[in-house]
Amino acid sequence: MRITNSGTYESCRWQSKDGSTRVNFNNNIQTISPLTYFQNNMSELRTTLLTGGASGVCSDCYTMEKHDKISGRQRQLLKVGIQEQYFEKSLASSTLRSAFDYSNNNQGHTDRSVTDWQIDLGNYCNGACVYCNPENSSRLATEFQKLGLIDQIPPLAWCDDPDLVDQFVKVLTSSPTLQYLHFLGGETVITPGFKTILTALVDAKLAQDITIGFTTNLTVWSDDIIELLKQFQQVNLGMSIETLTRVNDYVRYPSEINSVQRTLNRWVELRNQQDWLIQLRITPTCLTVHELTTVYDYAWQNNIAVESCNFIDNPKFFRISVLPKKQRKIAQDTLTEWIQSRNSNNKDKIINTRDPNIAQDQIIQDATSYLNYLTLADDESNRLPDLIAYLKKLESNRKNTILDYLPQYEQLFRSAGY
Ligand SMILES: C[S@@+](CC[C@H](N)C(=O)[O-])C[C@H]1O[C@@H](n2cnc3c(N)ncnc32)[C@H](O)[C@@H]1O
Repeated sequence: MRITNSGTYESCRWQSKDGSTRVNFNNNIQTISPLTYFQNNMSELRTTLLTGGASGVCSDCYTMEKHDKISGRQRQLLKVGIQEQYFEKSLASSTLRSAFDYSNNNQGHTDRSVTDWQIDLGNYCNGACVYCNPENSSRLATEFQKLGLIDQIPPLAWCDDPDLVDQFVKVLTSSPTLQYLHFLGGETVITPGFKTILTALVDAKLAQDITIGFTTNLTVWSDDIIELLKQFQQVNLGMSIETLTRVNDYVRYPSEINSVQRTLNRWVELRNQQDWLIQLRITPTCLTVHELTTVYDYAWQNNIAVESCNFIDNPKFFRISVLPKKQRKIAQDTLTEWIQSRNSNNKDKIINTRDPNIAQDQIIQDATSYLNYLTLADDESNRLPDLIAYLKKLESNRKNTILDYLPQYEQLFRSAGY
């Protein structure tokens, strides 16, 4: 299950937003228990899936699979022992087989309780990545308001209200079946609710049975958080980055690549000591896809998986397919050369993208998915003027210029209105 910034429950962390915003004031914590929601309100979705239907809320996963990207759907299936290529047999031996049967015979109801939560902690963030949005970055929200891009900044998140945090903590600490909690900010490491929830789980002596997942922007470090994390069964850390060059400073504004690199190295060292699972989380856009191999190089050398949740979809003008043919070709050639110069004999689709033993094969798989996307996605270079208009607007406040970072695109950007 997921609890969004506004306190609304959703069925899955990958549930499609369908273009809607997650700021909708529908605070479920006060009105319905997560257990009731999970066991009863999700019955309709379970029935759809059990009868072989395709739910609209799964559309993001279907899109990923279409482009040969590993979807959340496929990963969750693997967790319960189901492999799509051996569907019938693996379903029969799935760890959840009896639970599927139960739901099938009871109109989608389940008697299980939640084992896995995605916990959205609000938008409190020190970063203002160009492709992010006010819902996920308070800094960007303030900037958007100043630039007249939004009238109002998003409302406070559920997790800014200590009473609601308290209520949700009670839900978690009274739930003996918890296995995995994934936190999302804002910048998780500096969000007070993150520390509050971790501390409560440690105090309730549940930490040793729970895995904590979260993503960081590599601009902050907290010894307190690290000491708490060490008490959990396992930690899965995502580190956001899409290029290790100076272009990072423009795209993941206002981070600074040398400092980001130092923090990255620190987490890698900690991974080596603690045996935690770490990944590089990339959100390549039309501004960075040609430099993706800088991240793959680092990942390859340090045996770190690289994962992107999705191909960027919104804002539309940041899509990789906004790059015109000529620039696309350069990115394609760079990726092709990089892939071909690495040895990977793996032919199987890697679903468990976090397995460090096959990190290098997984990197090749990720690189190949971007190459496929660059090769196959429809041309959307008609969106370039929108991109330029947007960048100019941000730059009017930030006093920087994209041409300092991507001088090779000057002619292209000028032709689109820069
Ligand atoms: C919103 S951030 C929050 C966590 C943390 N501040 C960070 O930077 O990792 C979570 C992830 O979403 C990615 N992201 C930001 N804007 C996005 C967009 N428009 N589409 C897809 N992913 C996006 C970020 O790059 C990051 O990896």
